[in-house]
Amino acid sequence: MPPRRIIIDTDPGVDDALTFLLALASPEIQLEALTTVQGNVTLEKATRNALSILEMANASHIPVAQGCSHPLLKSPHNSSEAVHGSSGLGQANLPEPKLKVIETHAVDYLIERFLAEPDEISLFAIGPLTNVALAIRKEPRIVTAIRELVIMGGAIRSGGNISPLAEFNIHEDPHAAHVVFQSGIPITLIPLDATYKCLLTPADIERLNKVDSHIARFIRDAMADYMAFYQQYEGFAGCALHDPLTLATIIAPELLKLEEHYVSVDISGGVSTGKTFADFMKVWKKPANMRVALDVRGREFVELFIARMESLIQKLQ
Ligand code: RIB
Ligand code: CA
Repeated sequence: MPPRRIIIDTDPGVDDALTFLLALASPEIQLEALTTVQGNVTLEKATRNALSILEMANASHIPVAQGCSHPLLKSPHNSSEAVHGSSGLGQANLPEPKLKVIETHAVDYLIERFLAEPDEISLFAIGPLTNVALAIRKEPRIVTAIRELVIMGGAIRSGGNISPLAEFNIHEDPHAAHVVFQSGIPITLIPLDATYKCLLTPADIERLNKVDSHIARFIRDAMADYMAFYQQYEGFAGCALHDPLTLATIIAPELLKLEEHYVSVDISGGVSTGKTFADFMKVWKKPANMRVALDVRGREFVELFIARMESLIQKLQ
């Protein structure tokens, strides 16, 4: 089976960074490109982080296209420093990247790549959906050219993590999410309902650091603030592998409990803006618009993540 070719749209972000490493460590995946969007941090920081992580992981051949600096309508949040640190990579200090972004804007790059090779490449959206929504609006033909769109986002039965009801990526650009959810692209949604069951613990990080390696040190340093945040605010020692879990759709789909549902997002502007909800009782009698991961064998996914990191560390020694 040839590897699945993917493009990741991202707002790195520490769990975004782990997703790139997991993609690079997985023979089932061919990482074609990164496109950046503002979210956890400003667009400038997100882009710098994407470039520096690829350089650190000996993956400078992978192109990075820079995207949108603001959501479609609302103003940017830009203050996830408590979780991702001021740089967006926690306490990790990566050198200024030598690698540069490509000239093409991320929205145009996505359109070009998907139209050039219809049904060949999947898109993994692990930040706010601004770039994806604008690409759909600018060139509707990509709706049938994208093989699959896997989104880290939403909270279906779960509470929110940026408001009592909403998950960060969707809340950050709910109007973009509305455009994407209504587009007709084959979507798989990986919401907090599943990602909060995939907790990387301090013991897991220490296990990775048994071998002295720059990748293990990066993971430890990048996750330091994230771990402290979870301990202080969520009351457990560990941090959720939100973004990395999207790759389970390729490397371990058997771990996910996926159901077909019609899912909407609240864009009414009130207290529940950004809330995603599934029409479980089919009251609206609308066909499902996505597969949703409502559960996962979380610890097995974390063990797989650690095993892949150990193999990446060996490969890059
Ligand atoms: O809610 C989790 C999501 O928000 C993840 O993508 C994380 O990186 C942040 O962007
Ligand atoms: Ca992210």
